Amino acid sequence: MDARPIGVFDSGFGGITVLAEVAKLLPGEDLIFLGDNLHAPYGDRSPAEVLAYTRAAVDLLLAQDCKAIVIACNTATSAAGAAVRQAYSLPIIGMEPALKPAELLPGEGNVLVMATAMTLRLEKFHLLMQRYGQHAIPVPCPGLVELIEAGEVAGERMQAMLHALLSPHLKDPVKAVVLGCTHYVFLRPTLAAFLPGSVQLVDGNLGTARQLQAQLMQHDLLRDTEPAAPGGRTIRFASTAPGDAIPRRMEAWFARALALAGAACISQTGTVQ
Ligand code: DGL
Repeated sequence: MDARPIGVFDSGFGGITVLAEVAKLLPGEDLIFLGDNLHAPYGDRSPAEVLAYTRAAVDLLLAQDCKAIVIACNTATSAAGAAVRQAYSLPIIGMEPALKPAELLPGEGNVLVMATAMTLRLEKFHLLMQRYGQHAIPVPCPGLVELIEAGEVAGERMQAMLHALLSPHLKDPVKAVVLGCTHYVFLRPTLAAFLPGSVQLVDGNLGTARQLQAQLMQHDLLRDTEPAAPGGRTIRFASTAPGDAIPRRMEAWFARALALAGAACISQTGTVQ
């Protein structure tokens, strides 16, 4: 029984899709979401910069007395996951493109892995490719995070970008598309309409939430396994960007993420600065 909050961190709004799965799976836990909006997107930065930002984010969440942290960002996990896990003693759960479950899906065809160029470039992904990349085609998606951060998850510009990124790979049969960046989960409805109906969309969010649950159990850190009464837990939003405009936008993104995750109502939310 540990009542301290769990921290969930991303460069920007994308990690809110992971927060939604965590909120659903662990209804008794207090949650703090931190977006490093001041430095987003990470995909265009150097791994050394992303490591420094990730350390700073972990420090901010520790200052809020978090008992465990989810790096809800494939890019930050690739650049900084191993280093922060070594440097801090609390459970830190990272992410990687969900290539394994996608490869294991029944059916024929390629597996397109959409992610930031940095995620696809770093060693973690190369190791993943060696094990599960038999049918995988990496698809770096520069510019996509920026469009999503701007709120354009559908519409003409998004259609044009998806066309430019994906159409060249749709000439051959495609079994699945891996959403290897947490921002892309907000594109699920747009991608489902854009791609042939037989293509499955795979993300690692539920797997990450389950991994968090397992670690909390293993370290005896769970607060409660029962659903909290209304208002019985808090979900708070914080950003490295000044002011409260972004945390308020995060609440709206969270409602959207809950709908995508198939969750109706998750008790009380609030903002932190
Ligand atoms: N959500 C991050 C990820 O999963 C976005 C990367 C970025 O900020 O460029 O990779």
